[in-house]
Amino acid sequence: MTAFPSRRGRRLRMSSALRRQFAETRLDAAQFVLPVFVVPGTGVSRPISSMPGNNQMSVDIVTEVARRAQDVGVGGMMFFGIPETKDAEGTSGWDPNGPVPRALEAVATAAPELVRWADVCLCEYTDHGHCGIVVDGIVENDATLGLLSKAAVAYANAGAQVVTPSDMMDGRVTAIRGNLDRADHQNVAICVHAVKYASSYYGPFRDAVDSSLQSGDRRSHQMNPPNRREARVEVLEDVAEGADIVMVKPAGPYQDIIRQTRDIVDVPVAAYQVSGEFAMIKAAAANGWIDGEQVMLESLTGIVRAGADVIATYFAIDAAEALQ
Ligand code: PBG
Ligand code: ZN
Repeated sequence: MTAFPSRRGRRLRMSSALRRQFAETRLDAAQFVLPVFVVPGTGVSRPISSMPGNNQMSVDIVTEVARRAQDVGVGGMMFFGIPETKDAEGTSGWDPNGPVPRALEAVATAAPELVRWADVCLCEYTDHGHCGIVVDGIVENDATLGLLSKAAVAYANAGAQVVTPSDMMDGRVTAIRGNLDRADHQNVAICVHAVKYASSYYGPFRDAVDSSLQSGDRRSHQMNPPNRREARVEVLEDVAEGADIVMVKPAGPYQDIIRQTRDIVDVPVAAYQVSGEFAMIKAAAANGWIDGEQVMLESLTGIVRAGADVIATYFAIDAAEALQ
């Protein structure tokens, strides 16, 4: 190792051409997946105030956004649904005419280059807002698995290429894989939320899908933020159950977990830059406190540098445009 004055770290930083050539991490719009919130009706586009630029949209409007996303090279779209009716079991979650199946079908035709990801959880569809069936105030793990599987199969039937269970029940990959295979969907991939923390960064999302809890919280199933070793256990278990992709969520505040995950498995690692991460950057930028575009790109670069192959991000279109 030579030292100063022979070695000068600044030599490869002196021009933008040099910096570009020697960048160790590159962003590619193909890595980005845009989450969208689909509602019934037509011509509906209701702004979500805590997530500037994001709207609850009917299928026709989602389709327009999908075309725009495809045009700028975004890699995929992740669908969340807000149904007409909610009940204790979340039955509208596997309605073949629900907002998510209809959006999947429309986007498959309108923007075939976008990979179609469907979130699988019951909290948008249950009247109590929990991610599964509730018995005596507790989310019942095993009874929930069959319902999640029904939703996954309904989305695969409608053309989802990746289903992404975000519920954090134990054993869901095995259950969903078996049900997908029995329904002849061997080629539909599972991106499991292997490591999903019980995070306060989800606040704006719960406004977006109207899934605020009537009572209780999600701490009996989502992970405790201080825990890192436990994330290893979750990831290894989900890969053993047959997960094709493992997701870490949130992304920015958990980059150590993304790195650890990258280092222990060889399947793709996805990270979800969640609503609160997005909202904080937007709010600070709107106040003129930070340069919104630069912080957007820096935040995504950090997540990729940590080891993510794919990022679910509300910045997908903006970031893809900035990279053009
Ligand atoms: C629910 C779900 C949540 C998010 C994605 N799926 C919220 C939660 O667990 O309460 C959060 C995404 C975001 O904040 O952008 N299964
Ligand atoms: Zn949920």
